[in-house]
Amino acid sequence: MNHPTTAPAPGALILRLRGVGKKFGAVTALEDIDLDVHAGEVVALVGDNGAGKSTLVKVLAGVHQPTSGTIEVSGNPVTLDTPGRALELGIATVFQDLALCENLDVVANLFLGQEIGPWAMDEVQMEVRAWTLLQELAARIPSVREPVASLSGGQRQTVAIARSLLLEPQIIMLDEPTAALGVAQTAEVLNLIERVRARGHGVILISHNMEDVRAVANRIVVLRLGRNNGVFTADTSHQELVAAITGASENSVSRRAARKREDMKREDMEQIQ
Ligand SMILES: Nc1ncnc2c1ncn2[C@@H]1O[C@H](COP(=O)(O)OP(=O)(O)OP(=O)(O)O)[C@@H](O)[C@H]1O
Ligand SMILES: [Mg+2]
Repeated sequence: MNHPTTAPAPGALILRLRGVGKKFGAVTALEDIDLDVHAGEVVALVGDNGAGKSTLVKVLAGVHQPTSGTIEVSGNPVTLDTPGRALELGIATVFQDLALCENLDVVANLFLGQEIGPWAMDEVQMEVRAWTLLQELAARIPSVREPVASLSGGQRQTVAIARSLLLEPQIIMLDEPTAALGVAQTAEVLNLIERVRARGHGVILISHNMEDVRAVANRIVVLRLGRNNGVFTADTSHQELVAAITGASENSVSRRAARKREDMKREDMEQIQ
């Protein structure tokens, strides 16, 4: 199955993971992960270092093969055995390093490796398509003939996101898109994410920044030690999210449970004596 050319209905379930696990030899990077992404929503994926975010992104990008579980795209079970297959199924990824060519201009970067038509590398056509897409995204790029080297971090992120949209994916995964950005550029990228959502794509946003996540995400999925540790809404407090990420809430709960167990043991002992 290749991804349909017509956009999915708003709110349609486009990606469904159940019980997804990934082991690297003896290391369990992911275990029993469930994840749903709908058309026109931003799902944030958060978690501490080593929580399994990048591994999950790589599984969905067709870079790593899961060792267990199922992945469905628009209701159909799929095997994402290569990055090409993931793209074919409408799952695009903007990796953290962006992989842009500094010396090439914006148009050349947008169409790198996907020039329109085998013989018709029509510069005019590509430039028009580039402008249309960037305008649609209200991107602040001074000129599409500007080399990427002269763009700001936010503008580069915009080019990378626009490039992944050229194939009209159903899902776009962004790995730490604001990590290296200042306040104004971060706001620009968050606006861009909202416009991508408005176009009907499902967005998976990986971020360490809780403010960014709470600003744009419809749902926030917490990973901890390779497992799901709660799904939250954007109005969840910063403290609550941090507690889920670090396991602080779980610690206080488990501490209380442990204390209770101790008390019960003591009572039992007293009864026996
Ligand atoms: N190729 C690999 N081989 C072996 N272990 C790996 C590999 N990739 C990831 N891991 C392990 O899987 C676990 C999850 O790592 P992952 O990179 O997915 O975390 P992350 O949430 O992206 O962390 P960070 O926020 O630091 O980027 C870690 O324990 C990591 O060491
Ligand atoms: Mg990572």
